[in-house]
Amino acid sequence: MQKVKVDLDVRSYSIEIGGKLIPTLGKRCVDLGLGRRCAIITDRIVGRLYAKTAVASLTKAGFEVHVITVDNGEQAKSLKVVAKCYDELASHRLERRSFIVALGGGVVGDLAGFVAATYLRGIPFVQVPTTLLSQVDSSVGGKTGVNLKAGKNLVGAFYQPRLVLCDLDTLRNLPSREYRAGLAEVIKYGIIYDASLFARIERDLPKLLKKDPRTLAEVVARCCEIKADVVGQDETESGLRAILNFGHTIGHAIEAISGYGTYLHGEAISIGQVAAAKISAEQFELPEPDVARIADLFKRAGLPTKINLSPAQRAKLFAAMKVDKKVSAGEVKFVLARKIGAVEFGQKVTTETINRSIEAK
Ligand SMILES: NC(=O)c1ccc[n+]([C@@H]2O[C@H](COP(=O)([O-])OP(=O)(O)OC[C@H]3O[C@@H](n4cnc5c(N)ncnc54)[C@H](O)[C@@H]3O)[C@@H](O)[C@H]2O)c1
Ligand SMILES: [Zn+2]
Repeated sequence: MQKVKVDLDVRSYSIEIGGKLIPTLGKRCVDLGLGRRCAIITDRIVGRLYAKTAVASLTKAGFEVHVITVDNGEQAKSLKVVAKCYDELASHRLERRSFIVALGGGVVGDLAGFVAATYLRGIPFVQVPTTLLSQVDSSVGGKTGVNLKAGKNLVGAFYQPRLVLCDLDTLRNLPSREYRAGLAEVIKYGIIYDASLFARIERDLPKLLKKDPRTLAEVVARCCEIKADVVGQDETESGLRAILNFGHTIGHAIEAISGYGTYLHGEAISIGQVAAAKISAEQFELPEPDVARIADLFKRAGLPTKINLSPAQRAKLFAAMKVDKKVSAGEVKFVLARKIGAVEFGQKVTTETINRSIEAK
């Protein structure tokens, strides 16, 4: 098992990464000294696969468990579902020392984290992420929240879990498209922070695609370490944390202009990262061969690297980029790479440069 410590003073916690971890959930919650009553928040698909094991482990350790199942998919991240969770927690008399377990992907993690942050002004929560994306990204860093009609993640809180258990066995059931989408974030960590991680992914991609336990554990742990390191330096997103958005300015805009489900987040940011690499070559000193290495790695991971847009769609893409909430004072700022492993945030990029970067050559 790999262990990563997230250092945030009194809010520090560990991320444990390995196989067969859900069966240890109960014991780990005892170690944390959590109250007797708890609720697992999960979705229909993950609940069917893993709730039984999680409940058995918690019950055996002496906890009284209530399971709250929400629909799977992004629509569960809503205030309506939050209210339903509050009601269930109250009717099962969860109190200040009780805790919540988020069992599922990023949707469940964001929802359950927000519920935990706000119910009784905050009760402890434990994350059990079951998608690659949630293991390397959304379960680390303390961002929780839900969507409004006006946009994604518009209501939320920074709230840290007490423990994260990344049970890699759960990835065996994850559809391969979801798994590959998670790899887009994994590759991102190499580009923004760690050239040797990038080289390792280039070398070990076949093992990663086969979900080789040891490679997966080491790579997931390194990604968590990088995210924890970045978040530890900038917990509330005033600066450095922006580097985690490499490829996301264009990626988010692609998600916004395509219909729901056309592109998974990981697919959209794969295209976005290749575009950001091209911009980095034009505007910074990122060598052309590195742009090719980046595009090639996403391609080998089975991810899209380009998009064909009509002039009308292109106009929509630019409009979407301007309403992205990371834009300040109406100016679109990019994270650009100087080399693989080193990026800078807050870079101004002209419309012409962006246009050239998304030419579907
Ligand atoms: N808080 C953050 O910092 C942060 C960062 C990135 C993304 N997010 C959020 O994460 C969400 C996306 O998360 P996601 O990609 O994990 O999607 P998801 O939670 O919707 O899961 C994808 C699908 O896979 C299913 N699934 C999950 N685990 C499974 C397993 N082990 N086996 C089989 N099926 C499984 C789910 O039921 C769902 O249908 C978005 O809402 C996004 O905003 C948050
Ligand atoms: Zn992302």
